[in-house]
Amino acid sequence: MEAIWTLGSSPPEQHSSLAGHTQSDVVVIGAGITGLTTALVLAEAGKRVTVLDAHAVGEGCTGGSTGNLYSTLASGLAPVRSKWGDEVVRDVVDSRSQAIDFIEATVTRLAIDCDFHRRPLYRLVSQYDEASLKSLDKERQAMQAGGLTVQAAESDALPLPIREGLKLEGQAQFNPLAYARGLARELVRLGVAIHEHSPVRDVDYQAGIVKTEAGEVEAAHIVHATHTPKGINLLQSVMIPSREYGVSARLKPGSAYPQGIFWVLDGFHSLRSYRHGDEDYLMVIGEKHKVGEGEVDDVYPRRLRDYLNDNFDVQDFTHVWSAQQYSPADELPYIGRWHGRDNVYLATGFAADGLVWGALGGTILGDLILGRDNRWHERFDARRFTPVKSAKQWAKENVSVASHFIPGYLSVDKLGSLDEVAPGQGKVATLEGEKVAIYRDADGTVSVLSAVCPHMKCLVHWNGIESTWDCSCHGSRFDTRGEVIEGPSYHPLAQRHTSD
Ligand code: FES
Repeated sequence: MEAIWTLGSSPPEQHSSLAGHTQSDVVVIGAGITGLTTALVLAEAGKRVTVLDAHAVGEGCTGGSTGNLYSTLASGLAPVRSKWGDEVVRDVVDSRSQAIDFIEATVTRLAIDCDFHRRPLYRLVSQYDEASLKSLDKERQAMQAGGLTVQAAESDALPLPIREGLKLEGQAQFNPLAYARGLARELVRLGVAIHEHSPVRDVDYQAGIVKTEAGEVEAAHIVHATHTPKGINLLQSVMIPSREYGVSARLKPGSAYPQGIFWVLDGFHSLRSYRHGDEDYLMVIGEKHKVGEGEVDDVYPRRLRDYLNDNFDVQDFTHVWSAQQYSPADELPYIGRWHGRDNVYLATGFAADGLVWGALGGTILGDLILGRDNRWHERFDARRFTPVKSAKQWAKENVSVASHFIPGYLSVDKLGSLDEVAPGQGKVATLEGEKVAIYRDADGTVSVLSAVCPHMKCLVHWNGIESTWDCSCHGSRFDTRGEVIEGPSYHPLAQRHTSD
């Protein structure tokens, strides 16, 4: 699976993995938009910064996003308004508008070639039923409460049966991978050490040391910019991890490519176009499900391809990809200091809106470390305590974790022989009394790993779409060798056996 954004991004610069002992003022874990923005703010203020990433710059959630930048939220401002009121809705809109302006100014200032354009955003309903219209009206009122100028969408905004919709001018789109790589180039110029393929294995908070397999960074400040913090954190018990898919296509000659951000509330499909060179592409994002749950074959990308085929003249499909998101319990992201530690910082709970929250988070964390005031810090403080606003999701998420924990262990089949796992298949089973994750590749090589997630001991599940082992509890994901792809786990799945 590869996202469309490799088109139009300059070739990646290689950054060596971390080796040996090094010292820094700040170590940032994660080279996505949050970590890179934090590092930029700090490096421009003269701080020595080291950035570590388990994989490569921008190739996690940033490079798997839609590239859409908007001051509203994909799930709408109405839920924020009903939990927090008008003042917070205004803060959400103002802070996100400011973050988009920051990205635009950075693109211009650093001459980053990432196809940044201002575009309108549409929120459209295709069904003429009372519930859809009522919810659209509620959203219109919430947008207005946030200070946004809302227009009625044109009925022919998309070649779909649109019944009614809202339109916001002045939103934006870019290529998120090209932007991340542009930030990384500037960081290197400023003397920031970036180390790729350096998964963090442990953090000694007392000593201020972040450890990888082959090296360690000693720093006064530690930033978790990994979408969800590494290790165990209270916030993980209130956030829901989910995955969403993207598919892109070229349309038949003469077809029109819609220009804007289009959210169609027929379930939920997000559509946008992208031009690279002389070629246009149309992409659709959707089919969200909780990590470690749902179908195990190609169902979600297939449904997205069907959606494009049903509504557009598709010539061919070019890319398919997916990305992870963590939904906050009280509708707002968590950005700031880690509970109980004044020199450790995190930014998480971005739901589907991570590019703008990530840029905002980077500026807030940078200012916090520099001791500067930031007017948004208090609003999104990661240490806030909102039991009433968070109760519903907290209960939902913990029932979900419990339902994966105990029944997960009880319902695992016994396996008589490894031959029961076909080529290309993965299966969690009980073998010789242990819960194991068995995968047989196309050549017949079998790998047997412990199925127990090292984070907090839930069992992993086979994800046949991406050939990964996914943990439903807090979203850790592992490749077929057991190595961590993303999520809070520091450690890989334990190796048990590999055979030809
Ligand atoms: Fe927490 Fe697996 S991610 S137990």
